Amino acid sequence: MDLHVTLAGSGDLTAQIYAQLREAVLDGRLAGGDRVPATRELATSLRVSRGTVTAAYDRLLAEQLLESRRGSGTFVAAGCVPPARSGTARGRRTRPGAVTPTAAWRSPSAAPRVPGDAAYDFSVGVPDASLFPLATWRRIVSGTLRRGRLAPDTYDERGVSRLEGEIARYAGVSRSVVASADDVVTTAGAQQALDLVARVLVEPGDVVAVEDPGYTAAARLFSTHRATVRGVPVDGEGIVVDALPDAARLVYVTPSHQHPTGVAMSRARRIALLEWAVRHDAVLVEDDYDSEFRFADRPLEPLQSLDRDGRVVYVGSFSKSLLPGLRVGYAIAPSSLTPALREAKRVTVWDGDAVTQRALADFLAEGHHAAHVKRATKVYRARRDELLRGLAALEHRLEIVPSAAGLHVCTFLRDGDLDDLAVADRALAAGVFVDPLSPRHLERPTRHGLAFGVGGIREEAIGPGLAVLRDVMREVRGEVSAPRPRRRAGG
Ligand SMILES: Cc1ncc(COP(=O)(O)O)c(C=O)c1O
Repeated sequence: MDLHVTLAGSGDLTAQIYAQLREAVLDGRLAGGDRVPATRELATSLRVSRGTVTAAYDRLLAEQLLESRRGSGTFVAAGCVPPARSGTARGRRTRPGAVTPTAAWRSPSAAPRVPGDAAYDFSVGVPDASLFPLATWRRIVSGTLRRGRLAPDTYDERGVSRLEGEIARYAGVSRSVVASADDVVTTAGAQQALDLVARVLVEPGDVVAVEDPGYTAAARLFSTHRATVRGVPVDGEGIVVDALPDAARLVYVTPSHQHPTGVAMSRARRIALLEWAVRHDAVLVEDDYDSEFRFADRPLEPLQSLDRDGRVVYVGSFSKSLLPGLRVGYAIAPSSLTPALREAKRVTVWDGDAVTQRALADFLAEGHHAAHVKRATKVYRARRDELLRGLAALEHRLEIVPSAAGLHVCTFLRDGDLDDLAVADRALAAGVFVDPLSPRHLERPTRHGLAFGVGGIREEAIGPGLAVLRDVMREVRGEVSAPRPRRRAGG
């Protein structure tokens, strides 16, 4: 292990080396079993005599903080530090600070709810990682590495990449988005696309309108750019255009599958929103995060393809169609914005990961993404049908919000006195993870509800999970006693 030791002046060098190693062991930066540098090696790097280092090691050996193993070197002694001191987070030393972040960063968002070891996981926003075509991906990535293709893969001097060309083609064919390679800017997921958009369009104090309930990660992002974020209600046709604040400079929407209610924005509402944007000189950011998975015959056209005026920035992501961990998304922007977006990306991160981007370009060009979406849609459709069947049996408690795409279904609680957080907490205690609607509101929630994702749960577990939820809801209403908790097998 490379160990950082600093020697100051020409005082007792052995004592300095001894003290620094001892501290590294005691505060957990070096753990039992870690190898320490050979005396000769450390002496050379510190430009001291070998005897100076040996004397320090001898003291640590005598204190049983180090042990030497014949023929293999010197190691931190196992079990030399009580677990309470070494802790689980190795090397973590917290120091109080005299500095604080700016106002936008002072109160962090609430920690997300997590399923833990719940037996029935209806998490929203996650695809099923086991459906990812890993063998194909591994083959393509290995080929990229084998051929040493490690540098970004760009067409031209502006830095437009082959992946951006493939995305333009893909979004054009599958979503009728009007784009050429120049209009696409690849990003680390939709979230970075929103960040770049905010950087180039939002001045501190500008009003940004978001759907309410909505995608809180987007609202939070805009607020960190010191925008004034205003929630706008959503009804069965999408965002209520008449309720948009006149001052909004940017409107963030999820028209294909409103997050979280799932409603598709009607065509009339899309037209009204575009007209509103023209009248108010505003930009529309269309987040099309999971519309690849469609369960109705005719998808509605994206706002972007209805836009005759160059006001829509279309944001897409491979987080749902492939894996969130790939961190690839994109913005497709009017040509008046793309140079600024590319510059904002360069200034903040230079570029994304070259190997992933090259591999994804091949993956798209060879048709694997389309084939995967087709296969995964079949699996998700079966799960969704099972979910809708199960929810129909809970119809007296939960009103299903109609939707035609995406990986989750939302419901409203029919009993206006029930608190969705309380239901979700009780459900989790019984082994069922569901997503309550009220934390997704910016203002006071108008209706409480529960959202059910189909990415994290197998088809055969859906019915039993909903049966437990039914018991939980009866219990929350005081009709019966608490159901027994269910845990994931082996968890
Ligand atoms: C509304 C919405 N947009 C975008 C995303 C994807 O974000 P990213 O591409 O940054 O992973 C999600 C993921 O949960 C989402 O719910």
